[in-house]
Amino acid sequence: MFSRTSSFQARNLARCFSTSLPSNYKVSILGAAGGIGQPLSLLMKLNSDVTDLALYDIRGAPGVAADVSHIPTNSTVKGYGPENDGISTALKGSDVVIIPAGVPRKPGMTRDDLFNTNASIIASLAGAVADNSPNAAILVISNPVNSTVPIVSEVLKAKGVYNPKKLFGVTTLDVIRASRFISEVQGTNPTEETVTVIGGHSGITIVPLISQTPHKSIPKEQRDALINRIQFGGDEVVKAKDGAGSATLSMASAGARMASSVLSALSGKTSVTEPTFIDNPLYKSEGVEFFASPVTLGPEGVTEVHEYGPVEDYEAEMISIAKDTLKKNIQKGIEFVASQK
Ligand code: NAD
Ligand code: LMR
Repeated sequence: MFSRTSSFQARNLARCFSTSLPSNYKVSILGAAGGIGQPLSLLMKLNSDVTDLALYDIRGAPGVAADVSHIPTNSTVKGYGPENDGISTALKGSDVVIIPAGVPRKPGMTRDDLFNTNASIIASLAGAVADNSPNAAILVISNPVNSTVPIVSEVLKAKGVYNPKKLFGVTTLDVIRASRFISEVQGTNPTEETVTVIGGHSGITIVPLISQTPHKSIPKEQRDALINRIQFGGDEVVKAKDGAGSATLSMASAGARMASSVLSALSGKTSVTEPTFIDNPLYKSEGVEFFASPVTLGPEGVTEVHEYGPVEDYEAEMISIAKDTLKKNIQKGIEFVASQK
């Protein structure tokens, strides 16, 4: 006779027979006490794939850690500051490192205006990641993403630990904005809208492919306004916050979505595809080393980089313009690291 199985036992049995890897991951967040870092820490505390959450910041991380540590999910949380080489302890053994450290924009600034401050912050954090968690997947949020991701790659290369399959510039905010904004124009459910957004993460380098959605025949004037809103959605928030920073809450949601996809793929649970800014093999022959494409993720990071597929003439033109700007942004990051040697 079969014995009765409790739902708890059933779940454990299911796990025994599942082909996926165990979900015991250490995630560290660098810049965890900031506007993005705090809500992102909260969302990662709620992620059941995370068992160890390490929060690092030059100020305030132990407080954030104490706060989120009271949430009854299956992870331990510790906060670290710069004293006693806290960053090394925070990073050791990390599977995923998320980096929202650095200054945000104020009205009137471009993301590129943040370069002078954020380049050295990101380079120094990348060095610490290379030394302490060289196998981790790295998610870069700090702006200007088009340049900070190449900076991380150059630092990792110099340290001999660069794995292009595990370095991601987080462009998910553009993706979620596109879903939201298109649904507002079309009167549809944003949770059912998927828009592929490629290129980079600043103004004209953000290229949403509206022709690949069911709304390709939206009138030109409306379509142009929609594309402009997706490209400059960041400015909308910077202006509304009036000097108090840029997007933090929507960014935390976007960052948590990207991190969840990476974690889910690491555990072999699902094969997930997300657009993200990566060291991209598809456009190197044109001199574009990094480009956001839809990317399938697996246990070792990127498993496949997808072509963007058929586009209309106006989109081809946008892609070409984006590539010209990206080349310059990428070069700026590479030259910054070279100048530090
Ligand atoms: P914030 O100023 O609120 O927080 C930044 C945090 O970084 C602060 O807590 C600060 O102490 C910390 N920090 C600074 N230097 C550090 C270092 N060396 N090590 C560790 N921590 C350090 O800023 P925010 O609003 O959270 O934005 C952070 C960054 O994210 C900005 O560069 C912003 O432009 C960028 N951003 C990117 C996206 C995107 O889509 N990729 C979206 C929004 C914001
Ligand atoms: C965004 O897109 O909201 C971020 O890149 C922050 C900014 O500076 O606009």
